[in-house]
Amino acid sequence: MAQRVVVTGGSGKLGRACVRDLVEHGWDVVNADSTAPAEPLCPFVRVDLTDFGQTVEALTGIDDRYHGVDAVVHLAAIPAPGLVPNAATFRNNVPASYNVFAAAKQAGIRNVVWASSETVLGLPFETPPPYIPADEEYPPSPESVYSLGKHLEEMMAGQFCRWDPELKMVGLRFSNVMDPADYAEFPGFDADARLRSWNLWSYIDARDGAQAVRRALEYRATGVEVFVIASPDTVMSRPTSELIAEVFPDVPVRREVGPHETLLSIDKARRLLGYDPKHSWRDEFRDGAVG
Ligand SMILES: NC(=O)c1ccc[n+]([C@@H]2O[C@H](COP(=O)([O-])OP(=O)(O)OC[C@H]3O[C@@H](n4cnc5c(N)ncnc54)[C@H](O)[C@@H]3O)[C@@H](O)[C@H]2O)c1
Repeated sequence: MAQRVVVTGGSGKLGRACVRDLVEHGWDVVNADSTAPAEPLCPFVRVDLTDFGQTVEALTGIDDRYHGVDAVVHLAAIPAPGLVPNAATFRNNVPASYNVFAAAKQAGIRNVVWASSETVLGLPFETPPPYIPADEEYPPSPESVYSLGKHLEEMMAGQFCRWDPELKMVGLRFSNVMDPADYAEFPGFDADARLRSWNLWSYIDARDGAQAVRRALEYRATGVEVFVIASPDTVMSRPTSELIAEVFPDVPVRREVGPHETLLSIDKARRLLGYDPKHSWRDEFRDGAVG
């Protein structure tokens, strides 16, 4: 029988791609979001995840809609700093994540994947990263309240896993999420190396983000693990080495990087999750999808 997964935030930019990918790969998906999806790809439950009771119901089952949930993908959040005042970002995101983690515990769900963020790596890198490519090995340095929330959620997940040695929680530190329609903008980034240096010129194609989520669900492990998830290349046509020399000349470069390789390292995700991104904005241009 298909495994049932509740995707919170399934109506959002990344959520839509995840719901589609999981449905296509045989998962029984329920979208739990406060906003209805533009396109109904699976059953939808309108839920405010800042309310614990609603979250428990969403993760256990609602009347005759569904009963019993095997896994949770928690993406629902205000997805960036500055969209609303800081306290409002914090008040939505952190309690919603606590509620999802605690409701999963109550429901006996031991497969939890959630969206962390590249921001915990120290974005916008006004203080440069300690080395390049940036990876999961150095301590988080959140520079915004949004990012502070993501950092606290990673720490919270660690404690939930300590309480239950059978639990697996995977935090995916997504880069800036892009749909193919966004790629028309990319050539405009080239003129000014500092326009996108705030995240080391990285991005994540939503379809590859969805692949990472699916692989994280399939990953057999216990305990908490975090992964940087980015597309394999930068948003720039200019070579990565030239960009580093211009903007981060004093940052140690730890290994050789390809001509357009991302500087948010996806080595760990490739190694442990088998993450294998398939999409690049460069291909979309070549295929005439944009521009
Ligand atoms: N967009 C990015 O560039 C980016 C980068 C890194 C990490 N992330 C993270 O990825 C996740 C998804 O981001 P996105 O770009 O798809 O965002 P989005 O805004 O497109 O979608 C988020 C969804 O969550 C829902 N939501 C928010 N608060 C809720 C609540 N309290 N109860 C129920 N539903 C709620 C919204 O209705 C929305 O549909 C977020 O956790 C975000 O922080 C996003």
